[in-house]
Amino acid sequence: MDLQAKLDQTLDVLQQIDRDFSPAVFANSFGAEDMVLMDLIARHNLHIAVFSLDTGRLPAETYALMQQVAERYPAAPVQVYFPDTAATEQYVNTHGINGFYQSIELRKACCHVRKIEPLQRALKGKKAWITGLRRQQSPTRTDLGFREYDAGNGLEKFNPLIEWTEKEVWAYIKENNVPYNALHDQHYPSIGCAPCTRAIAMGEDVRAGRWWWEDPENKECGLHVKR
Ligand code: ADX
Ligand code: SF4
Repeated sequence: MDLQAKLDQTLDVLQQIDRDFSPAVFANSFGAEDMVLMDLIARHNLHIAVFSLDTGRLPAETYALMQQVAERYPAAPVQVYFPDTAATEQYVNTHGINGFYQSIELRKACCHVRKIEPLQRALKGKKAWITGLRRQQSPTRTDLGFREYDAGNGLEKFNPLIEWTEKEVWAYIKENNVPYNALHDQHYPSIGCAPCTRAIAMGEDVRAGRWWWEDPENKECGLHVKR
């Protein structure tokens, strides 16, 4: 399937969500995939609200892009969710500001406070949510489809770019002059929190720079784990 066919298919999925799954929301982390979806939602005036989880630990480049996106797409404002103040204070005061390097449990606990609980608030009362997941990204994502029921959160989950390759994502971005994270030009194909993301070396897997000290088979923060 060529890029145009994939694009048509993705747009079909987005239009179907707009029609049949209102209220629907798009989870935007400002990664390359998410910028494709952001551009499509704004360009086609889809009634899909956009939100982002600001963990408080994002790289400066992501905040710069967040500002750029607000200016480029005024009709599709991105609603930001912050972690709960008391829970964040408790984590930091108990385990330290970078406690997540100590163990997988503490890493998951940090992701819970900074992403999962805010995600649950963002998804409350919604019929569907949309992500920029691609099958090629990781061994944990190979059996994903366009649509799956997210039992943990109790709503439909759509992955409209599931079939896209990394090359196709970049072809769309360049062709449509879509803004993107400056870190992508510095060997960061996948970007999360600053302390948990590093550049990758030639030939490394695209998600090798995320939680690089952990085993690739269980490197998910819990946003996309089936419960
Ligand atoms: S993660 O689970 O490892 O953090 P990844 O960075 O690959 O996920 O992003 C996959 C998808 O999850 C993104 O396309 C986006 O839809 C959603 N997502 C991840 N992080 C965030 C965030 N901070 N805010 C909103 N959505 C996010
Ligand atoms: Fe915490 Fe790192 Fe997870 Fe961000 S990615 S929430 S800093 S453990």
